[in-house]
Amino acid sequence: METIKVLGIHSSPVKDGNTASLTQYALQAAAVDPGVATEMIALAGLAIGDCNHCNWCMRKQTPEKLCSIEDDASEILKKIRDCDILVLATPVYFTRLSGRMACLIDRTRCFTFGRQGHTALRDKVGVAIAVGWLRNFGIESTLQSLHNAFLLHEMWTPAVHHAGVACGVGAMAGKLGDDGTFSDRKRAVMDDAWALSATTQLMKKAVETSRMLKGRQA
Ligand SMILES: Cc1cc2nc3c(=O)[nH]c(=O)nc-3n(C[C@H](O)[C@H](O)[C@H](O)COP(=O)(O)O)c2cc1C
Repeated sequence: METIKVLGIHSSPVKDGNTASLTQYALQAAAVDPGVATEMIALAGLAIGDCNHCNWCMRKQTPEKLCSIEDDASEILKKIRDCDILVLATPVYFTRLSGRMACLIDRTRCFTFGRQGHTALRDKVGVAIAVGWLRNFGIESTLQSLHNAFLLHEMWTPAVHHAGVACGVGAMAGKLGDDGTFSDRKRAVMDDAWALSATTQLMKKAVETSRMLKGRQA
């Protein structure tokens, strides 16, 4: 059976924090399937410049050089091109995705107009993860922006009714103590049972969906 490659990318600056932990959890959930190989990338500390809309990718792109800008995104873009399931995980910042993640997503424009394959991400599977501090302060809008990126690339994204979400995994890391103070425990997201269950179910479905799509392509 062909290996399903799962690439998880998260954009939190906090090492081993909430978003990193949930991304790792998602990859482990997928790797329960013996036919799955996983890799995780943390964007923090990497040099990833803005897409400058030079349109170089439309004219000069090659399989080895996808974008005119040579920085840490060069290798990441190739890994995105070569994976089967892309997990994008971001902390919620001001009700939207983080700047780091937005920057990387903008660079994937080289896959929508690239000379080496228009819609090169078509028929991959995408799973969105957003971790916010609060239950109702931007998790859904953040997931929506990640999903729009998947849709723009003509990717597929799984939904599982029993996971209790319509779109990706929305997780909460905030804790309000009885005395009204916030705790800033680093991995509090791992107490969000709904999010963990949704992650497990969505990753299982993502692997099933990817297998179905690869079978269709064979
Ligand atoms: C600049 C900034 C803006 C934030 N804005 C929001 C927000 O709008 N809604 C929310 O629920 N949490 C917000 N948070 C909290 C983070 O989303 C939350 O703490 C998350 O768990 C961080 O994940 P991490 O531990 O992986 O970095 C914000 C945090 C920062 C640093």
